[in-house]
Amino acid sequence: MFVGFDLTFVKNILILGTGVIGTFWGHALTQGGHRVCHLLRKGKPAPTVPTTVKLAFTDRRNVKQKAKQYAYAVETDWTTIQGYEVVIVPVKHTQWRQAVSDLKPYLSDTTIVLVAGNVWEDDFHFLDEQLGGRYLFAFPHFGGAMVNGTLKGWLTKHMSLGFGKTPDSVIGSVRELFAQSGFSPTVQPDMRGWLLTHFAWNAGILTQALHDGGFRRMTRSWQSLTTAYKRVREAMQVAQACGVNIRQFPEGRKAFRPLWWNALQTFLLFLLPGMAQSADAGRDDAEWAAFGRKIAITAHRYNLTRKHFTHELPA
Ligand SMILES: NC(=O)c1ccc[n+]([C@@H]2O[C@H](COP(=O)([O-])OP(=O)(O)OC[C@H]3O[C@@H](n4cnc5c(N)ncnc54)[C@H](OP(=O)(O)O)[C@@H]3O)[C@@H](O)[C@H]2O)c1
Repeated sequence: MFVGFDLTFVKNILILGTGVIGTFWGHALTQGGHRVCHLLRKGKPAPTVPTTVKLAFTDRRNVKQKAKQYAYAVETDWTTIQGYEVVIVPVKHTQWRQAVSDLKPYLSDTTIVLVAGNVWEDDFHFLDEQLGGRYLFAFPHFGGAMVNGTLKGWLTKHMSLGFGKTPDSVIGSVRELFAQSGFSPTVQPDMRGWLLTHFAWNAGILTQALHDGGFRRMTRSWQSLTTAYKRVREAMQVAQACGVNIRQFPEGRKAFRPLWWNALQTFLLFLLPGMAQSADAGRDDAEWAAFGRKIAITAHRYNLTRKHFTHELPA
């Protein structure tokens, strides 16, 4: 039974990998006074020299210290997982199954797992089955990319937390943990709905960017921008078919604003220096395509008409 934890003591936090979101949080939680370690993939050798990353992102949190670099404390021994109170899993939506299956044998009864990233319908059941009531979702409302060993992008104080099964005391402790590190987490009463709506939003935008060869090209073409938002609407209808009241969420409402309005806003946003480059630096064609494939599979299951997500479906 999880009852939360006492934050008067320094927490031992393990983060899977040294990816973009894991590095943002690793840096911020270290600043907050916690002991953070990054666990490398099974079989990945420990680095022979200390690994550091330059920090060149815009920090919009209200913190006084601004570090120029972050030195990763790295762990390669998976049996040490039991010594951590909190394990953060910030992986791509195509990586949940492998990452959680790898982790599960090493988790202690009291480890709290934070599932930190995009999740679609098919993964909720899997996560429940594998992790039971010991996990909650933590979604970053910030982002960026690694460019030649430098972390770029935008770190904000915003993040969403939630899940129905973990006791409120655990959500409260995790919220406080992040608050100590300059974040202001919002507890989402319907985190599943929030995640499905957000996934649908991403699926629309990322599949159009993939089609156009990246954000730089997509955001220079009015037709591509408006098509991106047609895709977003189609994906939202799939989220709705999954039982989500999409209008309850800002992205679900925004999807049905006039196409020209959404296109214009995105065009203007991408005039920000570095925005398109940062989005393209995080390009992962296989992952972006998988957003579309997952939407297509679910649309097919609910017999929804597909104009944009016309992927070949697995037999
Ligand atoms: N990047 C953004 O701007 C952003 C913004 C908001 C939300 N998100 C969401 O946040 C999540 C993380 O995104 P990200 O950009 O941080 O991804 P990322 O940079 O690709 O990082 C993923 C990390 O997880 C590690 N990993 C994956 N499977 C593993 C396993 N089985 N065992 C050990 N390590 C494993 C990877 O290790 P290797 O290096 O060995 O592959 C990598 O270090 C995604 O769901 C994404 O959609 C991202």
